[in-house]
Amino acid sequence: MSKTAILEIDGNRHEFPVLVGTENEVAIDIDKLRSATGAITLDPGYKNSGSCKSEITFLDGEEGILRYRGYSIEELAEKADFLEVSYLLIFGELPTAKQLEQFETDIRKYTLVNEEMKNIIDGFPKNAHPMGVLSCLTSALTAFNPKSVNVDSEKDMYEAVCKTMGKFLVIATWTYRKSMGFPLNYYDNTKGYVENFMRLMFELPTGPYTPDPTIVAALDKLFILHADHEQNCSTSTVRMVGSSHAGLFASISAGVSALWGPLHGGANQAVLEMLEEIQKNGGDADKYLAKAKDKNDPFRLMGFGHRVYKNFDPRAKIIKKAADEVLATLGVNDPILNIAKKLEEAALEDEYFKSRNLYPNVDFYSGIIYRALGIPTDMFTVLFAIGRLPGWIAQWKEMRVNKEPIGRPRQVYVGSPLRDFVPFEKR
Ligand code: MLT
Repeated sequence: MSKTAILEIDGNRHEFPVLVGTENEVAIDIDKLRSATGAITLDPGYKNSGSCKSEITFLDGEEGILRYRGYSIEELAEKADFLEVSYLLIFGELPTAKQLEQFETDIRKYTLVNEEMKNIIDGFPKNAHPMGVLSCLTSALTAFNPKSVNVDSEKDMYEAVCKTMGKFLVIATWTYRKSMGFPLNYYDNTKGYVENFMRLMFELPTGPYTPDPTIVAALDKLFILHADHEQNCSTSTVRMVGSSHAGLFASISAGVSALWGPLHGGANQAVLEMLEEIQKNGGDADKYLAKAKDKNDPFRLMGFGHRVYKNFDPRAKIIKKAADEVLATLGVNDPILNIAKKLEEAALEDEYFKSRNLYPNVDFYSGIIYRALGIPTDMFTVLFAIGRLPGWIAQWKEMRVNKEPIGRPRQVYVGSPLRDFVPFEKR
């Protein structure tokens, strides 16, 4: 690979350095482009633009590869648990047993959320979307934890990590409890992180509650699979907001809002809404598969294909296996899920979908498994956020510790040239 890229513009020849990543990804460093040529690049959606150098996650869209800190998603999903993977993403190495135990102990120091936060959640109507409530509550944590993080202090940064991991899980479940009119639960420091998620969500004061270990194990794996995904929309948002040196809670809050969109984390909710729509209209999957193929029909299959993965989403393969296991273990027989199976079979066998790489993605299967686990549909993206939290924290920490510059893209102005002001009487 050549060490430089040549650009000829206005008859002038310019050389720019070429950077080659660990896995031989090639980038042209255009840091000096505008000062050298007066020109900028234009790349809507940043499909061809790298925003940073990162050591956290590697993905290869062509080969369907996803690795956290060099470890394959397949091995991590099979051999690690969610807090262990969170530690790996944030601090760069797999924790020793003692480090992991200490990490969980230190997270437990911060699982009590200030009671005054309840005044904020009480201000929302019951039908408020949980993602909107979660974004607000996350930002409100700043009011109760105003001390900004000294990113140059490992102790300060570690405390901020534990505080965010501890409090975010609790307030995320409060969004559901609020929508149901249930009392808000407290984290039980004698129980595990994912088991606490189930308790915080479903335990009622009227009787005992023991989460099904199959469900806890499936959710732990799902959170691992969602934990990071390099510079996706919400992670780029967290980096962008954090680049102005806004606090960690404020940056995570912005990430929650970005994830909410149906083109991003909201896709898993959109999958279930699509399946419910198909069921409401007779449950004929073949009719909707035909609609999806008809370019004049506005119907689109949600949960199929991916912007980056061109052949298959490695996470989907793992979730598909987990979904089949959970559905079998729980003996779930749900007409909605039968429709999903029909769509999945078509997408994996029908040349129309195969040729367009419209294979079931992580959102398709996560929507199915969450429904089978009894998670309410409008909480699906909240679960995505819980899984993605360590990735957001890791990326924010890397951006701040590396002292990355404030994000400030340029533009190509195509509006009106200079014109004189027009008084009212002449408009
Ligand atoms: C994600 O995991 O963030 C989604 O697959 C979206 C993406 O990576 O663009």
